[in-house]
Amino acid sequence: MASFEFHHKGARFIAEDEGRGRAVIFLHGFLESRRMWRDLLPSLPKGIRKISLDLPGHGDSENLSYVHSMEDMADLVRSLMKHLYLRKAVLCGHSMGGYVALAFAEFYPDYLKGLILINSNSRADSEERKHNRSRAIAVVKKNPKAYIRQAIPMLFSPSSKNRLSDAIARASEEALKTSAQGVVAALEGMKIRPDREPILAFAPYPILMIAAKQDPILPFEMLQEQMQHRAVQGVVLEEGHMSHLEEPETLSAALKSFLRDKL
Ligand code: MLT
Repeated sequence: MASFEFHHKGARFIAEDEGRGRAVIFLHGFLESRRMWRDLLPSLPKGIRKISLDLPGHGDSENLSYVHSMEDMADLVRSLMKHLYLRKAVLCGHSMGGYVALAFAEFYPDYLKGLILINSNSRADSEERKHNRSRAIAVVKKNPKAYIRQAIPMLFSPSSKNRLSDAIARASEEALKTSAQGVVAALEGMKIRPDREPILAFAPYPILMIAAKQDPILPFEMLQEQMQHRAVQGVVLEEGHMSHLEEPETLSAALKSFLRDKL
């Protein structure tokens, strides 16, 4: 897939763009990169333009600052759309990528055709989670590699942890490419993100929310409540937070049918 670069607020960003038709912008999660979508994108139907972006401090993109708020990253997505002369797009985000997509939905609703949230959450961090993020930031500042090595396996369900040791090793290798500044800035940004649950109730476009029963970091019951909102179509998976690696076929089937039937 051909990658290209563009500039936003003085920093350089890398994205990929393939196919023709309705534009879908894919936003990876924390410690991931645009490469997380590589096995999934070829399985999607023809007639879709697939654009994937490296968020600040991740993959091959530069950092923007010391705090990457979800709003800053939503501005970057808008800048990418302008660069490509896109009028409207569907945003598909994994986890933190979903938080960015929801910030975009708040500030740029006229440019959205639909939202896909994979293992993501519309609510703000609880006090406990904010506290854990502050602890993680302190660890990353001392030893970013040790933090990343222990963080990635913790995202998988117990059974896929045994089954997918190669995929976990590859995901960890990818994650280790994230700059320490990028890791801290994303943690700071996630910590201060506000609640955006009303978007799920009032959006004038369709929303697909995919949640997994054994997600170790996003409690399934909390996501199940969010899937009840009017604009949301919910799909339930069985394993952990890394659905693109743990249940790729089921994830692909859910995306295909949403793109075909709802958009
Ligand atoms: C992610 O997978 O993007 C993050 O772990 C989500 C989070 O920490 O809330």
